[in-house]
Order: sequence, then C-alpha cells, then structure tokens
Amino acid sequence: MKQIIIDCDPGIDDALALLLAAGSPSLRILAVTTVAGNRPVATTAVNGRKIMDLAGRREVPVYAGAARPLGYAEARCNLVHGEDGLGGVDVGDAALVQEGHAANRLIELLLSHPPHSIELVATAPLTNLALAESLSPGILRRARRLLVMGGALRFPGNITPAAEFNFYADPVAAEMVLAAGANTVLFPLDVTSSAIMTPAWIESFNQLGSVCGRAAAGMLQAYAELDPLLHDACPVAYLLDETLFTGEPCHLEVDWRPGVTAGHTLAWFGEQIDDAHAANALAMTAVRNDALLELVRSAIGSLP
Ligand code: RIB
Ligand code: CA
Repeated sequence: MKQIIIDCDPGIDDALALLLAAGSPSLRILAVTTVAGNRPVATTAVNGRKIMDLAGRREVPVYAGAARPLGYAEARCNLVHGEDGLGGVDVGDAALVQEGHAANRLIELLLSHPPHSIELVATAPLTNLALAESLSPGILRRARRLLVMGGALRFPGNITPAAEFNFYADPVAAEMVLAAGANTVLFPLDVTSSAIMTPAWIESFNQLGSVCGRAAAGMLQAYAELDPLLHDACPVAYLLDETLFTGEPCHLEVDWRPGVTAGHTLAWFGEQIDDAHAANALAMTAVRNDALLELVRSAIGSLP
C-alpha cells in the first residue's frame, strides 16, 4: 500500500488521474490539494471535491490552495478544459472543500507521517509545494518521492514554444521545487506526448455502464478535441507499474525570470552531469502507451 497526496488543478486529465488513483486499491489517498492552474483555484478545488465524491471517496479530504503563482499578480489559466474545468460534464453537485490552506495541510501531513512514507504527486503548477517549502524548509525532502507532471526537456513547449503549461504558469515555484533536493521523478512532455488517447479507448468508457465511466467518456471527448494526451495520469500510473516507463537521471533548472523563455526547462543529461550540475531528477522519456491506457480503463472500470 502506497500512501499518496495528489496536488492538482482539475482539469480533465487531472480528473482522470484522480479517478485512476481512486480505482487503485494499492494506493491510499491521504488528501487531494488543489491550486490555481487550468482554472482558478475556486474552480479546481470544487472540481477536486466533485471527482472524489463521484468516485465514492467522500472520506478523502480536498483542500484549496494558492490562488495565484509566486511572483505574478494573476493566475495563468487556460480554457483547454472548458470554463468549468471539466468540459461542461455534469459530475455531481458543487460540494464543499475542507478548511485549511493546501500548503499548510501538505506540511501537516508530511510532518505527521514518518519521513519518506508519502508519495507526493503533483499535476499542476507547483505553487502549493513551493509555499510549503518556504514555510517549512526541507519539508519536500520528507516525501518518499515527488512525482511531477511538468516541463519539456528535449521537446517544444505546449503553452509557449519554450515552456510546458505547469512550469509556465508558475516558473518560480517550479525552480524552487526542483532545487529543494527532494527525490523527484519528472513526467515532462517528452513522455506525456506519447500518452495518446484513441477515440475507441474513450468510447470504451461508455461501455462500462457506470456513472464514473460515463463521466470519464464525456470529459475525455471534450478534452481530446484540444489535447488528446493523458499528461496527469502518468505519475499515478508510475506508482502502479514503474515498468510502463523509461527514464534517465538529469540535472534540471527552470528559467524563472519574466520574459519570452519564462518556464523553460534546461536539462543536463549523461556526461553533462557534473558537480556543478548534479542530478536532481529522474526524467521519464518513454511510456508503453497501450498498457497505460488499459491500466487507466481497468481502474476506472472498478469505480461506481
Ligand atoms: O501541460 C500539461 C499540464 O497542464 C497538465 O497538468 C494539464 O492538466 C495542465 O495543467
Ligand atoms: Ca493538471
């Protein structure tokens, strides 16, 4: 049994990551923390609550976090996931999230559990994690691993030519988290660009005959038109089966400065790694996509 926390910005691919985790008995979800990203945090927080309730996991607390990135006055949202963040699909009533700021709850959970006993999954701008590290220096190193969807290494960005959305939305936080010295596994566009959904796979969710199946089909049909990639399911799938992925150690730095390359990830691989650029992450570069899609479909097939 792995104990996990998922920090996310639902967002449809975040919602699929939450459903994958909820449908996997080997994962114990301690909490879901949410942040401004795809949509404002008021929206992502309610969506996180709605998805966990849809999955029958009302006992899992959902906390709202940062409303804006470090260093910028406004959240950098997008409309890839629709105005409501879930493709306009009705996934249940607007539920209340739990009291307390996500950054504080992350600190409390990491301090109240033995060191290196929690897997911290992050599928959104890293503002909550950076705030937690600022409030309690060293706290991210208490996680067993940080499993982060973000960045684009040997691959073009998806929000600017230089940057992937999560790192672009809060580049200061991304640099702070990568520099925190935690045991980091990164899922950049280099690997998530191969996590490609097919129309037949999306349609198969309608055949499940369940509320979660129909909701997943509806959300994915809306999402696939603009971005047919299962970015956020990748770090959760890695926790379930590491053999799905291939990766390599690297030294990563993020351009945190305002400007045309804000959010760009610089990666040192192989012989480029040296004392001045020590490896600070294991970056995934390939995935067995058919097996990934089957893992996601099977887990969601176990939900109500
Ligand atoms: O670039 C992809 C990432 O940005 C995913 O996490 C998606 O949900 C958006 O947040
Ligand atoms: Ca996300």
